[in-house]
Order: sequence, then C-alpha cells, then structure tokens
Amino acid sequence: MKKLDITETVLRDANQSLMATRLPITDFEDILDTMDQAGYHSVECWGGATFDSCLRYLGEDPWERLCTIKSHLKHTKLQMLLRGQNLLGYHHYSDDTVRRFVRASVENGMDIIRIFDALNDLRNIRTAVDECLKAGAEAQGTICYTLSPIHNLEAYVALGKEIESMGCQSLCIKDMAGIMSPQECYDLITALKKGGVKIPIYVHTHATTGLGYMTLLKAAEAGAAGIDTATSCFSGGTSQPTTESMVYALSQMGFDCGVKYDVLKKVNDFFVPVQKKFVEKGTFDPYVLSVKADALTYQIPGGMLSNLVAQLKAQNAIDRLDEVLAETPKVRADLGYPPLVTPMSQMVGVQATVNVLLGERYKNIGKEVKAYIRGEYGTPPGKIDPELVKKVLGDESPITGRYAETLAPEFEQAKKELGSRAQSDLDVLSYIAFPQQAEQFFEQRELKKAVKATYTIKEVRE
Ligand code: CO
Repeated sequence: MKKLDITETVLRDANQSLMATRLPITDFEDILDTMDQAGYHSVECWGGATFDSCLRYLGEDPWERLCTIKSHLKHTKLQMLLRGQNLLGYHHYSDDTVRRFVRASVENGMDIIRIFDALNDLRNIRTAVDECLKAGAEAQGTICYTLSPIHNLEAYVALGKEIESMGCQSLCIKDMAGIMSPQECYDLITALKKGGVKIPIYVHTHATTGLGYMTLLKAAEAGAAGIDTATSCFSGGTSQPTTESMVYALSQMGFDCGVKYDVLKKVNDFFVPVQKKFVEKGTFDPYVLSVKADALTYQIPGGMLSNLVAQLKAQNAIDRLDEVLAETPKVRADLGYPPLVTPMSQMVGVQATVNVLLGERYKNIGKEVKAYIRGEYGTPPGKIDPELVKKVLGDESPITGRYAETLAPEFEQAKKELGSRAQSDLDVLSYIAFPQQAEQFFEQRELKKAVKATYTIKEVRE
C-alpha cells in the first residue's frame, strides 16, 4: 500500500476559515490526548491568524497555548503556518526578530514550520528557513498557487527546486483560494517530480469552490506525500475537505493514511457540540459552508470575498459589489499579478473598493500598496503598470534588494520599551509582533492576577 500523510487542520486553518479563528483553547484542550492517538502525520495548530486572535480576541497567551498543545500531543508532530519575513503579522520584521521568533517556536514545541511568502519571493523566507533548520525543526517551503498569464508550470518547478536547494525538507503547494483544479494539481506535482524535486510534496487546498476533494484525490494519485484535511464538522466550504471521507475514499484506492478511523470518529464527536455552540452564537455562519463556484470566475479567495462584502456593507454600498468584483482582477494585473493571499489579498481588495467608490482609479492609493510598489514586500511576480509606478515613485526607483536588510534590529529596543511589563522574552516577541494587542493583553493579565490575589487573601481571611 502507498503511504499518504494526513495533516489535521481543525485547530488552525479550519477554524480560521470557518469562524475567524475564534476557537479558545478551553474548547479543545480536552480532546488533545485523543487526537494524539489518531495517527495523523501532523496537527496544524498554531501560526496563521491564531497568534493575533489569541492576543486580540481570546485573552490567551499564544506561547502558553503552544506549550499546552505540546504537552498533550506527545506522538504527533505540531505544525504551524508562518508568513516568512512577515512572521504572523502583516509587515516585514527585522532578521533578529524573525530568528528569535522561529527559534522560540521550535523551542516551545513546533515540529514543522510551513513557511511562505505572499509573492513567492523566496528571499523573504530564507531567514526563517535557515533558523528553522538550525533550531532542528522541519522547514516546509511553500509555493503559493495562483493563476495568471505569468504563472506557469516552469515557473513553479523553478520555485520548487530553489526551495529544495535552500535545505527545506518538504514542499507545500498552497492553494489558499481552492481554485486549483484536480488536473492542474496532478500536472503540477508531476512537473515538480519530473523537474527533479525530490523532497516530499504536501498539498493544501480549501473546499470553497467544490474542487478541493477531487484535487486532493488527484494529488494522491500524482504521488503527493500528504494532504491537509479537517475533521468533518469543521470541514467543507471555506475550510479543508473532510478528513474521514478523504481517508475512506483513499483507502479504497490503495492508500494507507496511517490513521485510526475509530479515533477520527471520537475526535469529530467531540467537536460537534463545539461547532453547534459557535453556530448558535453566530460566530460560525453556516453560509461559509456552501460551495462558491463563482470564485473560479473571479479568482478571489473565499475569505477575501466575504471581506469585500463586509467593507461594502459598512460603506452602505453593497450594490457596487459587481463593479468591485470586476475591478479586483484589474488591480491585481496592474500590480503584477501577486497571489491573493495575506497580506496581498487585503491590499488588492481595499484598493479595488476605493477605485470603484471614488469613481476614479488610483485617485487614492493605500499606504500598503505604495509600500508594495516601492518594493518593500519583495519582487512582484510580473511587471507593475509603469504609470502606477510613476504616480507613486515619481523619479525614484523601487528597492531591488531584500527589504529586511534595511531594518534595524528590534528585540533589545522592544525589551527596553516594555521593561517590567514583559515577564519573559516571549512577551517581548508578542509585543514586537502585535504591539497594541500585546500591551492590552499584558494589562488584562495583570488585572486578572490582581483579582485572583484579592480572592486568595479573602479566602485566607475567611
Ligand atoms: Co489555507
């Protein structure tokens, strides 16, 4: 039987995609020991938006969350998603921050770090990959999959080979929008293998357009080493295809996924009431579960589409949605076809909305879009529209070097700023990553401690 690895995503991408990453650890800690028995290759449980969400919405220390998960998952690898030089944030951090953050992630339990850059500019993942390898974890280099007149198999194979030569032990094809068709996936894996890529290839997609299930089957057929899936009650729609169903189908096709079906059932049985609770609270809108074949036409990720709708509703301009949807691919083309993944998806979406609402294209250009045009995010996949470049830069020329080289070290300065508010170097890293959210979190933590102390004194007195 051929082996095929399963990565379970319920603790990260599935709940990020379905309910905006609002799953507190108290809602899943009790199932971790069982999950450890399932036989998953890995559990994606950290990174992506979880870090931000822990500090901003859940009042949790993200580092503590990682340690708690690690204490339960003793036999299963922990996996996270990291945005290269952007870490888990939305701008580039200095190299010293990137190295410290990656090292701290590994030291606190991370086994596999999936590292990507939104522009597939591999200079932006090099530092993170290097530190991950030095710290002794698996560095999984990533190709962000997108469709455009300039993205083709040759370019992807070149990326795959470069990722392998950087020392990454595995490669991920990341289809954040769920637009990769089964045949495209098959052809891409075949081309990567034929092109000489020898490291294992993992496929990440979303069920948004309904293609995901078929795409993962073709991935297995083409010789992928593993696929990402989500336990059934947290699967489908903008999340990943279903773990149990994929394993069921694949085992009949001669694949050994190494998982125990009875444990998969226990895991899902645990999450059913959790899902129900969030549906009732309105955090989990079942609308995200329906298939959006439109994404194939617009080439817009599901999450981005819902952001556009929210933006327009807030502006009382939802009737302009069709215009914005038509403008989005134009903005993307003007910007040299960046893949629509964080942070590019937000930048392109906001700019398209502004272009439509102001009735004039690029009358107002977003701060981030300007930074992108200056070259701060890396080299765009294609050429940016020359007129747009001129409008933003005038006679200046864009940065061609790696932007992070121009950033001063951040850690010592941040440590000084925080002073006694930081209980550890991990706090300093949280603060550098998300200054406002971290400060707020530290304050709440102090408050909680004070309240607890008061109660303890009272108890003693009584
Ligand atoms: Co994803």
